[in-house]
Amino acid sequence: MTIFKKAAFVLLILCVVSCSTNEKETKQMKSYANDTHSYAKPNEAVAKHLLLDIDVDFEKKIITGTATYTIESTNASEIVFDAKNLKIHKTFVDEKEVAFTLGANDLILGQSLTIPITSSSKSVSISYETTDKTEALQFLNPQQTADKKHPFLLTQGQAILTRTWIPIQDSPQVRLTYLAKVKVPKALMAIMSAENPKEKNETGQYSFEMKQPISPYLIALAVGDLVYKEISPRTGVYAEKSMIDKVHYEFADMEKMVEAAENLYGTYAWDQFDVVVLPPSFPFGGMENPRLTFATPTVIAGDRSLTSLIAHELAHSWSGNLVTNATWNDFWLNEGFTVYFEMRIMEALYGKEYANMLASIGRQDLADEIENLRDQPKATRLKLDLQGENPDDGMNSIAYDKGYLFLRTLEETVGREKMDSFLKEYFRKHAFSTMTTETFVAYLNAELLVKNNVEFNVDEWIYKAGIPGNAAKINSDKFKEVNMVLSNWKDKTMEAKEVCEQDWNIQQKIHFIRNIPKELDDGLFEKLDEACNFSTATNSYIAMVWFEQAINHDYHGNNVDQLMEDFLMKVGRRWYVSTIYKAFKNNNRLEDAKRIYAKARPNYHSVTVNTIDDMLGVSY
Ligand code: BES
Ligand code: ZN
Repeated sequence: MTIFKKAAFVLLILCVVSCSTNEKETKQMKSYANDTHSYAKPNEAVAKHLLLDIDVDFEKKIITGTATYTIESTNASEIVFDAKNLKIHKTFVDEKEVAFTLGANDLILGQSLTIPITSSSKSVSISYETTDKTEALQFLNPQQTADKKHPFLLTQGQAILTRTWIPIQDSPQVRLTYLAKVKVPKALMAIMSAENPKEKNETGQYSFEMKQPISPYLIALAVGDLVYKEISPRTGVYAEKSMIDKVHYEFADMEKMVEAAENLYGTYAWDQFDVVVLPPSFPFGGMENPRLTFATPTVIAGDRSLTSLIAHELAHSWSGNLVTNATWNDFWLNEGFTVYFEMRIMEALYGKEYANMLASIGRQDLADEIENLRDQPKATRLKLDLQGENPDDGMNSIAYDKGYLFLRTLEETVGREKMDSFLKEYFRKHAFSTMTTETFVAYLNAELLVKNNVEFNVDEWIYKAGIPGNAAKINSDKFKEVNMVLSNWKDKTMEAKEVCEQDWNIQQKIHFIRNIPKELDDGLFEKLDEACNFSTATNSYIAMVWFEQAINHDYHGNNVDQLMEDFLMKVGRRWYVSTIYKAFKNNNRLEDAKRIYAKARPNYHSVTVNTIDDMLGVSY
């Protein structure tokens, strides 16, 4: 070998070594996308496991305790966490106390919490307590519960609220496993998004384990006087005693839903699927906390008519919890896929027509949302740009309904068989990882479109505003019947009494009420309520859309104003209450809205409060 060749050989070896390390580094750098809603720098130092040891103090309405993380780093000299409105007491690295730094407080993001480490540091521990500004937590007094005997605590982590009750690297990309020890008053039971107790114990101490890595927004805790009732060996419900039988009846099909979901997109990855029905101030319909969906009691209708919500939260066990949006700009990957999957589960259990009714309601929601956002067309894109915004404000129903329409259009283009094997493989291949919109688009192009030689305007759907021209048409025969009745009733060729006698399910009634035209002949609206009594509907969904219409039609009969106020005082579900307050606002009744809201606000969770404060232009 000449000197020259030798040198080249050495260079080659050097390059192989250094190029491969470079590649490794770039690989790791690449594995966490830039998330503008977290201060954490997971490419440098990342938490992999959490040991949470906390005490829930119902007197002071705070949580105190310690979060200990097992960490991994690449030559970093510090690890950065997110913290918002927390009191940080002390921090430790491998059990030795170290000084920490808290960054400036941002109203949306909170503060960075920086802790010095070395390359050999293994664990970081943070002792802290929450404050009265802790947005994730809602402490309820006994009066706000079903049984009215004991207080209650619930948490809501999505989107960026986990950092308000646990100092954490609060980006959906930072997946971690956790162990938790939670101490609560002896009369209460604690449950989490983890392996759960099925009975209250004498000590008030509960231990939890989440063995699979999950995103921080999915860490959840509920504390109350709860009981458990099994539906099948792997599904069941938690609720307060006075509710448990009703809840058990309502959700009796849960096991069948899990089976239908597994038949579609592969084995359920989380072993147990339970639902806890919370007090009515819970701000969402449902929240897909792994192993333990949180649900509003407003879906306990008595006739199983609102259970698509359970199908939705179950579907998140794949789209969301298994394959997770990398940042909140990719939120549609969670919700669009979940709505599509929800419809498929409902179709498998209750038939195509039922699913089409649900899809048609979503289609109308989408048209309404696009109309609402006519001045902000950018907000109607699937891929969002929420930098500088509170992600919770920017996440509208576009992700759900346009996301659904995109996937349904895709299904109709490639055929169901190909769509299903594509989705099944997508979930299998990316299980327990996070996904950016761009990575998904590349995967979709390669694995579905190019392979099958199909042309599809993916970029238009994902990166452009509005609804593309090739959108699937959603038709429901049962809604066509409703449209006929609606038009006959409006034209007075059909009496209100006959309208109420129709053998309609909830979706049809919702469709009817929502589509009552703004302009009606005098007395028609009153007569409708006299005959059908929608004002006193016990189904929360019917009540909500009826209240909206009552406001739009300046209707005050049947004690509706009082019933509406009672509803707003009791229910804190954001979608419901914001629909009603918005109707007040749009109909020059801002003062009524403000008067009721001033009384109801203390009953609402912070996420509902934020939305309604903004909407009504108030702050307290
Ligand atoms: N994950 C969402 C709730 C959520 C979204 C919380 C964004 C925080 C930020 C949940 O799966 C959901 O979509 N719930 C819906 C019900 C569903 C049937 C559309 C709700 O709460 O209304
Ligand atoms: Zn959802």
